Amino acid sequence: MSEQDPNATLVERRDVTESLAYFLVAPDKAPFASFEPGQFTNLGLEVFDRTVGERRFVRRAYSMGSPPTQRARLEFYVRRVQGGLLTEALFELRSGARLWLDAAVYGRFTLEPVPADRDVVFVASGTGVAPYVSMLRAYSGRRRWRRAVLVETVREERELGYRAEIEAFATHDPSFVWLPTVTRAPETSPWRGARVRVPTLLDPEAFARRTGVALDPSTTHVLLCGNPTMLADVSTRLGELGFVPHSRRAPGQVHTERYW
Ligand SMILES: Cc1cc2nc3c(=O)[nH]c(=O)nc-3n(C[C@H](O)[C@H](O)[C@H](O)COP(=O)(O)OP(=O)(O)OC[C@H]3O[C@@H](n4cnc5c(N)ncnc54)[C@H](O)[C@@H]3O)c2cc1C
Ligand SMILES: NC(=O)c1ccc[n+]([C@@H]2O[C@H](COP(=O)([O-])OP(=O)(O)OC[C@H]3O[C@@H](n4cnc5c(N)ncnc54)[C@H](OP(=O)(O)O)[C@@H]3O)[C@@H](O)[C@H]2O)c1
Repeated sequence: MSEQDPNATLVERRDVTESLAYFLVAPDKAPFASFEPGQFTNLGLEVFDRTVGERRFVRRAYSMGSPPTQRARLEFYVRRVQGGLLTEALFELRSGARLWLDAAVYGRFTLEPVPADRDVVFVASGTGVAPYVSMLRAYSGRRRWRRAVLVETVREERELGYRAEIEAFATHDPSFVWLPTVTRAPETSPWRGARVRVPTLLDPEAFARRTGVALDPSTTHVLLCGNPTMLADVSTRLGELGFVPHSRRAPGQVHTERYW
């Protein structure tokens, strides 16, 4: 048996749109490794690679959306990337299909460097919401932050994954506010929320009024996850407000997870 032989089963795929879905994956050897909300692992499959004209094993990183208490079935929130080597193949799998799941967990994109007496702003584009869903599932109502705001940006309203669950967190947890923005909603759509890009939402006065959270590096940490240009543009805006990127050597208040 090689290291890349299938060792997990796709239990179910739940579609959000034609190119966004939750994948429920059960490892043969349960429970899966312990992890912190925000960490990721790898999924892999043997796929046909047209550029080399042969089948080859491909693995890619995915953040767990499920909480660490749920290790018999992991949940991933995946975008089908047009022409993407792994995702095109993943979206062809039926329930019961076999695939490879890394046995290890990776990443430092967790709340570990964020003290519990701070406010936290989670910023996600697209499937970048997955690590925050794991965090909300694990920490909501447990005083893991003073206040938390999830700023979520998607193109269309129907791409607001996990919407009902996130709305329920916002309803039941007074320390949590959801601030979605839908950037390509048609003028005629019934969407009543924000329609601007994230940097525009980060006006300190308006943001504090809407969420009760100060965009102030002495009280607030910001986590950013998703599209690299969104990360860069939001980081620039945060820099203007005095926020500093976090690293182990030089602690700061901005923590990032770049998906590509
Ligand atoms: C730490 C980490 C966690 C990740 N977690 C998730 C996750 O939870 N859900 C998820 O859907 N993806 C996640 N990704 C992205 C994922 O690893 C793959 O890159 C993605 O699924 C595309 O793989 P592919 O083989 O289909 O495309 P490839 O054939 O590898 O790439 C095609 C090209 O598409 C671009 N691309 C990659 N991802 C995207 C995207 N989402 N949207 C638009 N363009 C893209 C890149 O420029 C890439 O070169 C994560 C990446 C990292 C590094
Ligand atoms: N969404 C779709 O309809 C759709 C369908 C099929 C395939 N795809 C493809 O799938 C890929 C991923 O699409 P996606 O919608 O998940 O991710 P995306 O293109 O990264 O967009 C997600 C959100 O991030 C915002 N954003 C992008 N760049 C930004 C920046 N520099 N600063 C601030 N906000 C920024 C987008 O706003 P803007 O709208 O202003 O860019 C959008 O609200 C894309 O390559 C896309 O072509 C998309």
